[in-house]
Amino acid sequence: MYSEKVMDHFENPRNVGEIQNASGVGTVGNAKCGDIMRMYFQIDENKIIQDAKFKTFGCGAAIATSSMATELVKGKSVEEALQVTNRAVMEALDGLPPVKVHCSLLAEEAIHAALWDYAQKENLHIEGLQKPVEDIEELHR
Ligand code: FES
Repeated sequence: MYSEKVMDHFENPRNVGEIQNASGVGTVGNAKCGDIMRMYFQIDENKIIQDAKFKTFGCGAAIATSSMATELVKGKSVEEALQVTNRAVMEALDGLPPVKVHCSLLAEEAIHAALWDYAQKENLHIEGLQKPVEDIEELHR
């Protein structure tokens, strides 16, 4: 059912953890399944993502997509990171079963939420980036 890459990133997730004083932190969740994903980006003065970490309380596909998404955004500019869609993450993982597509959406949303947080802190406008819709903070209380 799952590709080898999905299983690999689930069993050996890359970039698990937190970044202290991160440039941007984004937390998103799926109200239906209750899964939560938080991403931390360290972004340098040239707007390049130097480091990315995540914490995901969620299913195996959510963990695998967080892991792959953090791998994909590292070394990219914030504009390039915006192009890392859930489709791109799924392709990099050699696909996900249809019922698990929503899990990869969390990864895309977490990237956007972390970039939004960064843009707010730095007072920047990032072309094409929209404010995350949900205030997920309530889920943590
Ligand atoms: Fe909810 Fe996968 S089942 S993110």
